[in-house]
Amino acid sequence: MTTPLLKVSNLSKQYCTGFKWLQRQHTQALSPTSFELGKGETLAIVGGVGSGKSTLARILVGAEERSGGDIHFEGEELESRNLNQRCRLIRMIFQDPNTSLNPRLSIGQLLDEPLRFNTQLNRYERNKQVIDTLRKVGLLPEHTDFYPHMISEGQKQRVAVARALMLNPKIIIADEAMTALDLSVRSQIINLLLKLQKDLGLSYIFVSHNLNIIRHISDKVMVLKDGEVIEKAPTEQIFTSPQHDYTQRLIAEQTQRLQTR
Ligand SMILES: Nc1ncnc2c1ncn2[C@@H]1O[C@H](COP(=O)(O)OP(=O)(O)O)[C@@H](O)[C@H]1O
Ligand SMILES: [Mg+2]
Repeated sequence: MTTPLLKVSNLSKQYCTGFKWLQRQHTQALSPTSFELGKGETLAIVGGVGSGKSTLARILVGAEERSGGDIHFEGEELESRNLNQRCRLIRMIFQDPNTSLNPRLSIGQLLDEPLRFNTQLNRYERNKQVIDTLRKVGLLPEHTDFYPHMISEGQKQRVAVARALMLNPKIIIADEAMTALDLSVRSQIINLLLKLQKDLGLSYIFVSHNLNIIRHISDKVMVLKDGEVIEKAPTEQIFTSPQHDYTQRLIAEQTQRLQTR
């Protein structure tokens, strides 16, 4: 058997929520969770508010410490790679470009930042990479001089994608990244992500509550409820024969919403 790109084993997270009678209080945000992700594959993570989706995403990109479990990348324990290397492998696209893109920086500066902090490239090499990446996401070299407020929502989302691409990651995690976009912009961004996946061999982890998007783009689905994986299956199987009541309800709700629109 080939080694999966990413292998997550018994990953768990407890948050300390304070003290009561001098005892530390914890919430179990994520119960021991295991899954694998192959190269070029897309895993969707679905579940209601507070089910642990963002916690899982933040642990994978290294923005949050885990309480237990292992993460292996190409068979190697992630902790053993240095941080610099690690934050290149897995990158995150955040929910809302209006808050994740610093309004005081130009698009060029925003894209240059990850290169300045994480690579030894000189100014000319960095500039070349910024422009190449702008082209990859369907923007122009001229956009380097623009500021976030000067461009449309769709273009901002493209900048967010470009920023995630800057260090040539292997995996991109999008945490509810497209929820705020209107329908036509959303489908443009989805098509962009699918094209990038094909061209660059990227793997994706999509956190979303929009089951339509998930059905369209993912290969497999993991359903979380209160920090526990309740179902995990290939996408078509989840939609055609959901095993768990909760999954059945999620799909039924989605179908209803579509019909009443
Ligand atoms: N920084 C934190 N400190 C304490 N509890 C947290 C923190 N972040 C999340 N939680 C709790 O962990 C659980 C999972 O949260 P989260 O991962 O954000 O869920 P989701 O993204 O699925 O809505 C929730 O009960 C939430 O209140
Ligand atoms: Mg969340």
